[in-house]
Amino acid sequence: MTTTPTAPAPLQEQFDATIARDQRIEPRDWMPDGYRKTLIRQIAQHAHSEIIGMQPEGEWITRAPSLRRKAILFAKVQDEAGHGLYLYSAAETLGADRADLTERLIEGRQKYSSIFNYPTPTFADVGVIGWFVDGAAICNQVPLCRSSYGPYARAMVRICKEESFHQRQGYELLLTMMRGTEAQREMVQDAVDRWWWPSLMMFGPPDGDSPNSAASMAWKIKRHSNDELRQRFVDMTVPQAEKLGVTLPDPDLRWNEERGRHDFGTPDWSELQRVIRGDGPCNTERVARRRSAHEEGAWVRQAAAAHAARRAARAEKEVAA
Ligand SMILES: [Fe+2]
Ligand SMILES: [Fe+2]
Repeated sequence: MTTTPTAPAPLQEQFDATIARDQRIEPRDWMPDGYRKTLIRQIAQHAHSEIIGMQPEGEWITRAPSLRRKAILFAKVQDEAGHGLYLYSAAETLGADRADLTERLIEGRQKYSSIFNYPTPTFADVGVIGWFVDGAAICNQVPLCRSSYGPYARAMVRICKEESFHQRQGYELLLTMMRGTEAQREMVQDAVDRWWWPSLMMFGPPDGDSPNSAASMAWKIKRHSNDELRQRFVDMTVPQAEKLGVTLPDPDLRWNEERGRHDFGTPDWSELQRVIRGDGPCNTERVARRRSAHEEGAWVRQAAAAHAARRAARAEKEVAA
C-alpha cells in the first residue's frame, strides 16, 4: 500500500484506529483518560482479588490431609500471589502506584471479587474453589488474553495457564473425595451447594445492570458480556458435575435443545449487592488480615528499598569511576 504524506492524525483517531485494527495499545501510546482509568480500576480490582483470594484456601495449608495435598495447595496459593504481582506491575505501566493501590484496598476504597468473602469450613471447599472459582476465572480471563491493552493481555496469558492447573487440581481432589467414604461425598455435595450461586455471581450483574460494560466492550478491554460468560461457565460445568456425581443446586437447570445451551435459574442479586457493600460472611476478616499482613511486612519493604538504594548508589559510583 502506498501512502501519501499527510498531517499526523490526531491522537484520538490513531487510538481508535489501533483498536479497530485489533492491535494493542502499549504504555508509550497516547490513550484517552477514560480508557486509562477504566483499565487501572479493572486491573487493580483483579490484582486485589488474586491477593485476597489467597486467604480462603491458605487457611487449609496447615491442615491439609497429606503432604501431597499440602504441597499442591502451597503451590496454588503461591501462584495467586504471583498473579497479583503481574497485575500490579501491569497497573504500574499505566502510571498507578502499587503502594497507593494497596492503601485503597485496605481502606475499602477499591473492591475485589466478592467470591472471596465466603468461608471455607471443610477441605472439600479447596476442591470446589479450584473447580468453580478458578473455572469461572478461566471463562472470564481467557478472552482477556486478547484485551486491547498489551501488558494486561500478556499477563493474562501466563495467568490462564496457571488457572487451568488450579482448576484441574480442584477437580482431581473432588474425584478422590467422591471415591472415598459417604461422609466425604456429603462434604463435597455440601461445598457444591454453598459455592454454586456465588460462583455464578462472579461474572457480575446481568448485562442490563452492568454500567461499565459498554465502554469496556467498545474499547475491547472486555470481549464478552457478563451473561455470555456466565452461560459458558454453566455449559462447561454441567457435564463435569455429572461425571463427578454431584447435583448442582438449581431446580431450573436443564438442557435447552433449541438454544443448544443450558437454561438455568437466576442468582439472588440482592446477595451479590450485599456482599459487594461489605456485608458478606467474611469481608471484615479478609480486609483486616490483608491490613495486618501489610503492616507486619513494612520492615521487609523498607529493607528491600534500602538495599535497592545502596545498590543503585554503588552502580552510579562505578559508572562515574
Ligand atoms: Fe489467580
Ligand atoms: Fe487460581
